[in-house]
Amino acid sequence: MTPVAYRRRILIDPDPALRKVAKKVSALELRMPLTQQLIDDMIETMREAPGIGLAAPQVGVGKRIFVADVGEDEEGERTLYVFVNPVLTDFAGEETATEGCLSIPGKIGEVTRAATCTISGWDRRGKKARVDASGILARCIQHEVDHLDGILITDKATNMREAVPVGAGDVKDVEAAKEVNI
Ligand code: NI
Repeated sequence: MTPVAYRRRILIDPDPALRKVAKKVSALELRMPLTQQLIDDMIETMREAPGIGLAAPQVGVGKRIFVADVGEDEEGERTLYVFVNPVLTDFAGEETATEGCLSIPGKIGEVTRAATCTISGWDRRGKKARVDASGILARCIQHEVDHLDGILITDKATNMREAVPVGAGDVKDVEAAKEVNI
């Protein structure tokens, strides 16, 4: 049978579900069809939004799962990441960039994050996964792990502002927001 993925409704700030600390997923729970369907649906929902990352609490599921696809890297490779129970370590450097969030539509702000970090956890099959992340991937995974801890960019950003529509103001802001819709 071909699995079918469904687009789920993305919760919008100030939905209280976005503020809860998500729970760890057990190996048994990860293998359940319900959880695998959730992951398929999260991928579909992220792509449709469109965004470069989506965490389970954003679709109302308080589990430590996120998906990310930040586009092509320097070698032209594109990777779809699914992380379960992610842990971030080895933070280094600092970078400030414009971020948007699918749960805070139409708004952007500048967020300072570690320039590089390492993420460890499971993939969707429960296999151990570890990635040394930099650039937009490092930013994205820090944003997603924040979602798992109930943290939103409004807690961290400076200069939160409306991402004005094209033609109505600063187009640069709109483009930046599209690139970093996490
Ligand atoms: Ni977000």
